[in-house]
Amino acid sequence: MWKVVAILFSLFTTQFSFAFFVHPIFQHKIAQTSRRYYNRSTLRLNECDISEVERIYCISDLHTDNVQNLQWLTESCNSPHAPKEKDCLLIAGDISHDYKILEKTLSIITESLSCHVIFVWGNHEAWCGKNMTSSLEKISSVKKICQKYPKVHTDFQLVGTDHSNPVVVVPIESWYDGSLSLPECEDLCDNFQNWPWVDFIRCHWPSETELMKDTEILPSRKRHENLGKIPIGLTEWFHYQNEKDLAKVRSQFEHSEGELGLITMTHFLPNQKTLPDWKVPSSSDFRRDEWLDHPVPDISAKFAKVAGSDLIDFQIRSIINKQEKDKDIKHLHVFGHSHRPKDFVHENIRYIHNPVGKPVEREMNMIPNDVDFQLIWDCRSGEVRGRTIFRYWEDYGGGKELLAKNMQRRKRKRMKR
Ligand SMILES: [Fe+2]
Repeated sequence: MWKVVAILFSLFTTQFSFAFFVHPIFQHKIAQTSRRYYNRSTLRLNECDISEVERIYCISDLHTDNVQNLQWLTESCNSPHAPKEKDCLLIAGDISHDYKILEKTLSIITESLSCHVIFVWGNHEAWCGKNMTSSLEKISSVKKICQKYPKVHTDFQLVGTDHSNPVVVVPIESWYDGSLSLPECEDLCDNFQNWPWVDFIRCHWPSETELMKDTEILPSRKRHENLGKIPIGLTEWFHYQNEKDLAKVRSQFEHSEGELGLITMTHFLPNQKTLPDWKVPSSSDFRRDEWLDHPVPDISAKFAKVAGSDLIDFQIRSIINKQEKDKDIKHLHVFGHSHRPKDFVHENIRYIHNPVGKPVEREMNMIPNDVDFQLIWDCRSGEVRGRTIFRYWEDYGGGKELLAKNMQRRKRKRMKR
């Protein structure tokens, strides 16, 4: 009924301005229905509208090849706090490199929870097996597995248009390129070329020349910047591929009137502020002595090189243009990879990392022991705020001293074995 009234209303308003004939309450209802009807009809063409969704949750780094993590998943899916049939779970990468475990995990989630899932792959999904020589091929196979499940999506979705606060969820594919390197920490990255980072062995990417055939963006970083085996031109290539879908997403915001929220998601980190050691997101100064005073500063410095890319932040911030920024659109960005929880706002974007991580990281309070699916959006009322987290182990995990003690204890345990 309201849809018919809305269509008639929008037809009339193209010729005449007669809003004063309509009671303000009806004006609001008509405008709301009209906008919803428009958005849904345009996006339906792309089969990416999951209108019935009520709540959106996030999680990342399930690593269910670990038995304890698989057990965590089974138990969490049976918890009363878990997403329900009318909900959507965002998974920001790193379920497993193994196809069988990936399928098993998706089956557990879709059978126990019956919710929608939006998944973006992580570095573990890009690991090649014995008979595979291309990580791009591997990612393509991973997406094909996801397609077997009608409620698992790997492309952007308009979520919750049956309700008053719908949101566009946009998975962004990416990699790392050294652009988040910690300033003045190169002395901690000696011999980075030989750092035993598993991706350097198990991922196989096209050469820089091959990648450049498909993109017009030139890589901004070069080998002489101590990038070791980080592939050159890969983040630019993904950036270029993402643009095809982002054009459609941008047009949604051009036609919305501020009622539509935005949730972008990547596995990799979008800026330096999201690095585990970054303490004050409002500051661009990195305080090495104060922030790297833990037992493994060299790991922090090396991880920053393989953490993510500043191109991600550039791309997610390009979705909403300047005029649309005035509409006060809520933008959340969900990411994974570092296994160090975060939840903070920086320059109008809320960055959230809610990892399951490794059992040992949970034991050492680097990740909450009671990690759970995090509710971040309710399509009936809007954003769901969480506690602010800059550095979990300091803010809530017992502090740096306890962390240092736990690390020492673990080291002794390992040496005894
Ligand atoms: Fe990862």
